[in-house]
Amino acid sequence: MAEVILALDVESADAARRLLDRLPDLRWAKVGSVLMTRGGAPLLAELRERGLQVFLDLKWHDIPHTVAGAVAAAAAQGIAMATIHTLGGAAMMRAAQAAAGPVGLVGVTVLTSHDAEGYGAATGRDGVELLPEVSRLAAAAAAAGLRGVVCSPAEVDVVRGQLPRGAWLVVPGIRRAADAAGDQVRIAAPRETAARGATHLVVGRPILHASDPAAVLAEFIAEAAA
Ligand code: C5P
Repeated sequence: MAEVILALDVESADAARRLLDRLPDLRWAKVGSVLMTRGGAPLLAELRERGLQVFLDLKWHDIPHTVAGAVAAAAAQGIAMATIHTLGGAAMMRAAQAAAGPVGLVGVTVLTSHDAEGYGAATGRDGVELLPEVSRLAAAAAAAGLRGVVCSPAEVDVVRGQLPRGAWLVVPGIRRAADAAGDQVRIAAPRETAARGATHLVVGRPILHASDPAAVLAEFIAEAAA
């Protein structure tokens, strides 16, 4: 059983409102840096007033004091989940977790836009393999006390093995058999991903671009609950 989170990747706060008006069964909404920059904190408050759990996906990576301050601000606004980069280091993750209160902090490991060569170049190492790196960073997130980790469908098994029981495993790249992959390279179905241990499935375009978004959302929720 996993929760379905709608990625609100829309061009404006008004577009988000119009979509949400059509989705009374939605429980979770993800706000990323584009919509946050457009709609800001008032939109977050509005989502809460609509009864939604808000996932604030701003992928913080800064000095510990600053990240802790941002996390505290999220806690004050009733945010349910937020992302930080595990590459920010143990001190940053611990400071963030200390400020989190009820916010479930989840760690981003290796961005899926990296290939091994690009990641190796960015971190100054030769011969890096990505899956062991994801595993190492997921273990670091768990050691720092984070609530969980974000990972791709290809990483679910290795990350599940690094996290304590009950930890959150938040997975984007979810598609039904009939959906277009879009630019997602590694995709997986909701039922299979939930069965492998994901606790939250992030879905955007299959719902955002549907002619009947409520019907598609209902299908994702039913599959994730099976
Ligand atoms: O439209 P789609 O279902 O591909 O949206 C997935 C959401 O998850 C987007 O908001 C995207 O930015 C996010 N995401 C992702 N892959 C990652 C991390 C986040 O697709 N590795």
